[in-house]
Amino acid sequence: MKPIIFETYHGLDSIPWIGLGEFPTPIQKLEKLGEVEGFKNLYVKRDDKSSPIYGGNKVRKLEWVLADAKATGRKTLIAVGGSGSNQVLATTIYGRNMGFRVVGFVFDQPNAEYVRRNLLLDHHYGTELHYAPNLPVELLMFGLTYAWEGLRGEKPYYVPGGASSPIGNMGYVNAAFEIRNQVEQGEMPEPDYVLAAAGSLGTASGLQLGFKLAGMQTRVAAVRVSMPWYITTSKFASMIGNINTFMRKADPSVPEVKPRSEELIMLEDYLGKCYAAFTPECVSTIKKAKELEGLILDPTYTSKTLLGGLDWLKKRGEKDKVILFMDTYNSVDLTPQIEGADYHTLPRSFYRYFEKPTQEEELAQ
Ligand SMILES: Cc1ncc(COP(=O)(O)O)c(C=O)c1O
Repeated sequence: MKPIIFETYHGLDSIPWIGLGEFPTPIQKLEKLGEVEGFKNLYVKRDDKSSPIYGGNKVRKLEWVLADAKATGRKTLIAVGGSGSNQVLATTIYGRNMGFRVVGFVFDQPNAEYVRRNLLLDHHYGTELHYAPNLPVELLMFGLTYAWEGLRGEKPYYVPGGASSPIGNMGYVNAAFEIRNQVEQGEMPEPDYVLAAAGSLGTASGLQLGFKLAGMQTRVAAVRVSMPWYITTSKFASMIGNINTFMRKADPSVPEVKPRSEELIMLEDYLGKCYAAFTPECVSTIKKAKELEGLILDPTYTSKTLLGGLDWLKKRGEKDKVILFMDTYNSVDLTPQIEGADYHTLPRSFYRYFEKPTQEEELAQ
């Protein structure tokens, strides 16, 4: 189905786009969790079900990003992220399907079962993986490779962390229009707050811009799950501005939106020690969401978002508000693809994730 936003802004259909997912994703009321936590109007947007191949929030972004890469004649995608990156994996799965070569530069992050799983899946689906000890080195390695490939005569396509380029974030501007449609069809009342993880801020920025353009009062409460220097309210505001400028180039009838950072909501107390570090609270939120609602949350993004959002609302005495939690974590089980896979088939620098304990193993001790 074509993006619903094309119906309002016809000029946007000159932007490359390709259908990868199944939309709209369902909205469900979280009755049991709501009851336990004291919220009468708690809902979830099941973006974990955005595709039967591989779901989560990258599908909406890649519909624009990969179409753009194709339209500009690129053959190689260079993706960056953490070692357990869902973005690198999603870019590989959908990119390889479309015939791209995919090179992944990944930086070190705390070890976890999903890191092992995603690395094996990256390898299975054909990412050319490169390890970097930290983010600055990763960006340097990426820059050198990008320049080298350019000199060889082939300009690769850069897929940034979280696939959060202005064109990729269009996926979440469109998601806001999808939510408005679902509200109009009576699936839920208009949300007061939408809870979204802020990893690279593309999801939250796209949604907040989309709600504004869709004429809704809904505010995004972005839960910071990445490093404090990387995710700030001023970045939130400037990303909204960048997506808006990008849209207005394709369709000048899109109104100008210029939020001030003070108007935006960023919850900063739920990260824990660092990016991708487990916290005791996020572990118990994962358990609770599974037992009560059958939702599979992850320790890096969605559990911290649900936990942080509800905690913040409780502290503000806003338990009566209408809340929509964005479940942005893929729920398609791909483990059969890597059953019996040997990590020794990965580049040697990745053995560390299989030879050192995971956070789950450390917690169990
Ligand atoms: C499962 C999941 N949820 C949420 C996010 C955060 O989205 P964004 O990068 O758009 O802030 C990411 C990735 O960054 C993710 O992998």
